[in-house]
Amino acid sequence: NWNLDRFVEEKIEEIREQVGENKVLLAVSGGVDSTTLAVLLQRAIGDKLTAIFVDHGLLRIGEKEEVSRFLKDLGVNLVVIDARERFLEKLRGVIDPEEKRRVIGHEFVGVFKEEARKRGPFKFLAQGTLYPDVIESAASNTGMAAKIKTHHNVGGLPEELGFELIEPFRYLFKDEVRKIAEILGIPKDIIRRQPFPGPGLAVRILGEVTEDKLELLRRADRILMEEIKKWDKYDEIWQSFAVLLPIKTVGVKGDFRSYEYVIAIRIVKSEDGMTANFVEVPYDILGKIARRITNEIIGINRVVYDLTDKPPATIEWE
Ligand code: XMP
Repeated sequence: NWNLDRFVEEKIEEIREQVGENKVLLAVSGGVDSTTLAVLLQRAIGDKLTAIFVDHGLLRIGEKEEVSRFLKDLGVNLVVIDARERFLEKLRGVIDPEEKRRVIGHEFVGVFKEEARKRGPFKFLAQGTLYPDVIESAASNTGMAAKIKTHHNVGGLPEELGFELIEPFRYLFKDEVRKIAEILGIPKDIIRRQPFPGPGLAVRILGEVTEDKLELLRRADRILMEEIKKWDKYDEIWQSFAVLLPIKTVGVKGDFRSYEYVIAIRIVKSEDGMTANFVEVPYDILGKIARRITNEIIGINRVVYDLTDKPPATIEWE
C-alpha cells in the first residue's frame, strides 16, 4: 500500500493548497466513496468542508444513523437534511421507472441548491467520481453506450451548479478507494458496504412508492441482510437486496387465507456493476430468509429468488 499511502498524503497537501481559505461543499450518501472523501477532506481542510446528507426517505433501516454518527465522531462538519416528506410527496402517483429517477434527481438537486445558498458561499464542490464513471460518461457523450437508466448519484451533480470541482478519486477504481478508506481508519463495516443506488429503495418498489410499501421493504431488507451476512462467502457478493413486487398472491397464514405481496430476492456477483451473475446461495440460507420474511412481516406471504444475470436483466429491477 506504499503508493496509496503516498497518494493520500499528496492529495491532502494538494487539496489544502487548492482550497486556501475558501469553503467546500460535499454531498454524502453513506456509500464508501463519499464517506472516504468526507474523511479525506476533513483531514485536509477541517471545517472549511460542509458535508450534506440528504435523507430522501428512501434509505434502509439504520443507514442514516450509522453514517452520520460515524462522520460526526470523526469531526466532519455534517448537516443532515430531513427531506422525507418532500420526496414522498413528489413521488405520489409516479409509476414509470425513468420518471421516478427523474423526480428524485430533480428534487435532490433542488434540496442541495437550497442548502448551498443558505450555508455558502462555496467555491468548490467535491465529488467522489471514480475512473469507471469518467469512462462511462465519456462513452455516453460520444453515443457509444445506449442509455439504459438515468443514474442518479451524489457524485453526479450537474455542472450548472457552477462550482469548481474537486475530484481526488477521478483516476481510481473502487478497490483502491476501499484501500484508502482503510488507510484513513474508516471502520470495516462501512468499507464493506455494498453499493446502493442514489434513488434508493424507490427503484426496488415496483410501481408507486408509498410509506407503507417502504416499511415492508425495509423490514424484508433487514432480514435478508442479517441472514446473508452470516454466510462465509458474504464478501464475494456485490449486492444482496429485496425487491417489493406490485402484485399480491394467495397464501395461508395460520389457519387463514392471506392475500399479500411478493418479495423478490436479488443476490449478485460483479466486478464493476456493468455485468453481473446471480449467486448460487445455498438453499438453507435462502429458505431461512424466506421463512423469516413471511413469518415476521404481515403483508408478505411469498418470496422468490431472481436467477437472472446481467445482461439481459439489470441489477436493479427499475
Ligand atoms: P443496474 O441496475 O443499472 O445497476 O444494473 C448497476 C449498478 O449501479 C447501481 N445503480 C445506481 N447507482 N445511482 C447510483 O448511484 C443510480 O441511479 C443507480 N441505479 C443503479 C446498482 O445498484 C448497481 O450496483
